Amino acid sequence: MTMESHLPSTNGTTDGKTVCVTGAGGFIASWLVKLLLERGYTVKGTVRNPDDPKNNHLKALEGAKERLILCKADLLDLDGLRAAVEGCDGVFHTASPVTDDPNWYCYGKAVAEKAAYETAAERAIDLVVINPVLVQGPLLQPNINASLMHVLKYLNGSAKTYTNAVQAYVDVRDVAEAHVRVFEAPEAKGRYLCAESVLHRGDVVRILAKLFPEYPLPTKCSDEKNPPKKPYKFSNQRLKDLGIEFIPVTQCLYETVKSLQEKGHLPIVPSETPPSPQIS
Ligand SMILES: NC(=O)c1ccc[n+]([C@@H]2O[C@H](COP(=O)([O-])OP(=O)(O)OC[C@H]3O[C@@H](n4cnc5c(N)ncnc54)[C@H](OP(=O)(O)O)[C@@H]3O)[C@@H](O)[C@H]2O)c1
Repeated sequence: MTMESHLPSTNGTTDGKTVCVTGAGGFIASWLVKLLLERGYTVKGTVRNPDDPKNNHLKALEGAKERLILCKADLLDLDGLRAAVEGCDGVFHTASPVTDDPNWYCYGKAVAEKAAYETAAERAIDLVVINPVLVQGPLLQPNINASLMHVLKYLNGSAKTYTNAVQAYVDVRDVAEAHVRVFEAPEAKGRYLCAESVLHRGDVVRILAKLFPEYPLPTKCSDEKNPPKKPYKFSNQRLKDLGIEFIPVTQCLYETVKSLQEKGHLPIVPSETPPSPQIS
């Protein structure tokens, strides 16, 4: 879950708005900052350390020199956050401490969303929530984030089998677009499920094997007893109604792998075995 909220407008115009993006150097936030700069916004991006070279990709974005202000702020540093939000027409709150425990992660997200609705109602803040499913797609930031490990472990040989499980996927560029669409749509309210399709892990490894046969993708499920889990149904109609055309999951997975290669997280393996030397 990530959140977007309109603060009471400071200038009342559509042009030249200033918005804040928390955790600006993250996987989703980096694309969001890029898109907002492209659309002419001035962006105040919070990062924990503006001088850390891992945030250099933000400074290199088009429009960053003129309209990106990196503000130092930890989520527990209220003064830092207040300074970042000051003068903004809206806040895109994406920063989140990461935990490896999926139960704590889901609990934390549910509590945070509930608290956000309560606070927004008390203070008359226009809050809209985007609920992305598992996010894949090309990286702008140099470091790998937790969700990209999902495909990387199949490609680098660390996962020898796949689990009997299903998962919904969405491309990071659509998640960024969704945030901007709800911000710019005055009628947007409530929760927006941001998902393109649901696949079984077996389908994921088969798609990857077809696209990148040179990697040691698993061919066996770790659960050979039970029938394959069935994909569940969902609706992304609310975002489609706002004009989002979701990137198909196959294209998303392809571009994820190409990006992992380009950023040096996955060695490029020649796709055809070189002809073996002649033995005379
Ligand atoms: N990726 C997914 O599949 C997915 C799916 C659904 C929802 N989400 C949610 O979307 C948001 C962004 O996800 P992401 O995948 O883009 O994450 P990410 O790449 O790991 O980025 C998380 C960001 O949060 C910042 N952060 C962590 N702890 C912080 C703290 N105490 N104070 C200030 N900033 C802090 C990090 O800053 P530093 O660089 O300083 O560490 C980082 O920039 C998160 O809320 C996540 O839970 C993600």
